[in-house]
Amino acid sequence: MPEKVESHRALWFSSPILHWRFGLLTALVLVGMVVVWSIDGSTVRNIIEAWRYRQDSFSLRSHSHSPNFSLSHHQNFTFASPYSPVSLNLNKTNVTHFDPPIHANITFSEYIEPVFPKNYGNGNSSSGVPDEVEKTPTEHEVVKGHPSWLSSELESNLTSNLLARWLTPGGEPCKDSKTVGISIPVLDGVDLIELSAGDVHEFGFQALDDSGKPRCLGGDFFETDLSGESWKSRPLVKDFSNGSYSISLQVHPDFEGVYNLTMVLLYRHFEGLKFTPWRFVYDRVVRNVAIRFYRSSAQLPELETCKASDFGKDVWCGRWTRHGKNDDCQIGNDGRYRCLAPDFPCKAPWCGGSLGILESNGWVYSTHCSFKMYSAESAWKCLKNRWIFFWGDSNHVDTIRNILNFILDLPEIHSVPRRFDMNFSNPKDPSQSVRITSIFNGHWNETQNYLGLDSLRDEGFQNLLKNYFSEDTIPDTVIMNSGLHDGVHWRNIRAFSGGADYAASFWAGVMMNVRQKGLAWPRVFYRTTVATGGYARSLAFNPNKMEVFNEVFIEKLKKAGVITGVIDNFDMTFPWHFDNRCNDGVHYGRAPAKMKWRDGQIGHQYFVDLMLAHVLLNALCAT
Ligand SMILES: *[C@@H]1O[C@H](CO)[C@@H](O)[C@H](O)[C@H]1NC(C)=O
Ligand SMILES: *[C@@H]1O[C@H](CO)[C@@H](O)[C@H](O)[C@H]1NC(C)=O
Ligand SMILES: *[C@@H]1O[C@H](CO)[C@@H](O)[C@H](O)[C@H]1NC(C)=O
Ligand SMILES: *[C@@H]1O[C@H](CO)[C@@H](O)[C@H](O)[C@H]1NC(C)=O
Ligand SMILES: *[C@@H]1O[C@H](CO)[C@@H](O)[C@H](O)[C@H]1NC(C)=O
Ligand SMILES: *[C@@H]1O[C@H](CO)[C@@H](O)[C@H](O)[C@H]1NC(C)=O
Ligand SMILES: *[C@@H]1O[C@H](CO)[C@@H](O)[C@H](O)[C@H]1NC(C)=O
Ligand SMILES: *[C@@H]1O[C@H](CO)[C@@H](O)[C@H](O)[C@H]1NC(C)=O
Ligand SMILES: *[C@@H]1O[C@H](CO)[C@@H](O)[C@H](O)[C@H]1NC(C)=O
Ligand SMILES: *[C@@H]1O[C@H](CO)[C@@H](O)[C@H](O)[C@H]1NC(C)=O
Ligand SMILES: *[C@@H]1O[C@H](CO)[C@@H](O)[C@H](O)[C@H]1NC(C)=O
Repeated sequence: MPEKVESHRALWFSSPILHWRFGLLTALVLVGMVVVWSIDGSTVRNIIEAWRYRQDSFSLRSHSHSPNFSLSHHQNFTFASPYSPVSLNLNKTNVTHFDPPIHANITFSEYIEPVFPKNYGNGNSSSGVPDEVEKTPTEHEVVKGHPSWLSSELESNLTSNLLARWLTPGGEPCKDSKTVGISIPVLDGVDLIELSAGDVHEFGFQALDDSGKPRCLGGDFFETDLSGESWKSRPLVKDFSNGSYSISLQVHPDFEGVYNLTMVLLYRHFEGLKFTPWRFVYDRVVRNVAIRFYRSSAQLPELETCKASDFGKDVWCGRWTRHGKNDDCQIGNDGRYRCLAPDFPCKAPWCGGSLGILESNGWVYSTHCSFKMYSAESAWKCLKNRWIFFWGDSNHVDTIRNILNFILDLPEIHSVPRRFDMNFSNPKDPSQSVRITSIFNGHWNETQNYLGLDSLRDEGFQNLLKNYFSEDTIPDTVIMNSGLHDGVHWRNIRAFSGGADYAASFWAGVMMNVRQKGLAWPRVFYRTTVATGGYARSLAFNPNKMEVFNEVFIEKLKKAGVITGVIDNFDMTFPWHFDNRCNDGVHYGRAPAKMKWRDGQIGHQYFVDLMLAHVLLNALCAT
């Protein structure tokens, strides 16, 4: 199959994704910052740039002073490599530079053309001019006619199946080889792909090794993206564990138009789950094709506002849609993007309330149901007399601050610490107050990092948590999260699985105690960890590992009967994780600032975390 071999060469074509990395070196200038915060009148001075906390800031600083960035003593191994982008990225930059000149102009060509030229028999697009051949993939090759939304669930026995797949022995060439590219029989060689909007289109594809032969083991991690003018989603990939996969695409009939489908092979055969994933990252665009979705008779059930029961869904397959746009939008001096009027309305059924307050220039997330945007008034009404307990990493810290600043009308709170227990009152109506407790779980010692769930091995930390659930009044809602610190800490998936078992049984014990005392069991949500972004896609907390850690921990928490619901922030962040525009790698909710951001631009987008803040309120307030 000589054509197929040819097509592999095309894998290394330039793409926007490859350019995302260029901001990286400049961005390293950002080192730990000293933040002054003020809470309840007292001023605390502290360093809270959490991931650059201590060890990290040290590593970055030492890097600029000496060519050896030997790091802090105990963390040498873990930190040296991820934060040594000089060596890591010079190699990668090398890889990314070779745009074959023949395709150099692809990006200037008509948007509608396939970005990815085919070297198959009928393809001759080296000139950048599309061939006349237009083929709609035939019916039998596409799973069509699903009148429902694309959806997915956790597989049963997830952890044990995952371990079994990972440990599948090799011994044959098709098992021991490495994936370098894919073939998608139905799409390859088609110049303009046209698909009906509304239907789910599932395409099988095959992983191929460097000689174009099919692989017969799975475990490759593909990042997928389907982007149109007003739509962004992560097409669902299924792994059949035998070298074949499928990708499912769906857009709503109201969003006909031309889309880019991008597939990036980030890791091969579970390598993202390793302890040193940066040594294995592949990160190549394997497909970048234009697809036209046309309006058809297909109808999808209309989304409804999320109810309490909707949070029982473990895996969300949502999308971001856009319902407004201000092309002249400028960053304010306070770092905020007030692009649409605060009362710019949501468009039903994609969201409810005011879309303008999301400061997203029109974008909003919805999933199997849609979300209401909370005004200060409605949020205070819902939170009045509540006690919300957070247990998680520094993303919780950011989200809580964003809730206070953006939604609850408490802009004077510039920061909250990693560990606190406080009452907040509505400045407009002091009778409305809410108690928020937040306990950092990256380490049992709040000034340290990278223990993750293993922090529960510390008895003092266990007691600290237990105490909040041992009084007569206990939190009514618990929001948990973990993953980023775990990614650095646990040597492998089996070890993490043990830690997750331990954590789940710890919380089951806490809840059992609550029940024995005759108190109402709190509602407990697991809020999945972010899809890490840009440069962080290759590190110890890469999105491949975070997705698996999310799934494993949810499985354990459900088995232990701890959680009542899931809030899938991984799905919410995924469409914005390819670069650092909306994140600094590991945080989506950093406070707005008109300053140089990680990607070299002035200012950053924080709306993805604001969306999460509203989703949390939906979960807290839904009936
Ligand atoms: C850098 O490493 C080299 C060899 O590993 C060593 O000789 C040199 O002293 C180190 N420099 C610094 C500044 O640590
Ligand atoms: C980390 O440092 C310790 C002590 O400094 C050393 O014993 C160990 O070999 C180092 N590990 C790696 C992987 O370099
Ligand atoms: C970079 O690539 C060169 C050549 O492929 C290799 O020898 C070197 O070890 C690589 N460096 C790192 C840090 O991976
Ligand atoms: C980087 O690319 C140049 C030119 O293609 C090549 O000569 C060099 O060996 C490459 N370096 C590495 C480390 O791969
Ligand atoms: C790319 O396009 C520009 C402008 O149309 C043209 O000047 C240049 O020669 C083209 N380069 C190639 C490699 O076709
Ligand atoms: C591709 O197009 C060029 C110029 O239009 C032509 O010379 C060449 O024969 C074509 N190749 C194929 C495989 O059709
Ligand atoms: C899951 O594991 C249990 C016990 O190991 C087994 O009985 C059950 O059949 C498995 N289910 C699936 C779907 O594999
Ligand atoms: C699709 O990709 C092309 C080429 O990279 C780009 O010009 C265009 O803006 C993209 N469209 C969308 C909707 O992202
Ligand atoms: C791989 O598994 C899928 C699903 O079980 C099956 O449909 C397909 O035929 C298998 N492919 C090969 C090459 O065995
Ligand atoms: C918050 O208020 C509750 C009662 O409303 C009280 O029991 C608790 O001690 C207060 N917490 C703090 C930190 O002030
Ligand atoms: C927490 O760690 C810091 C060093 O980072 C240390 O000074 C402090 O004593 C530790 N706290 C506890 C309670 O062990």
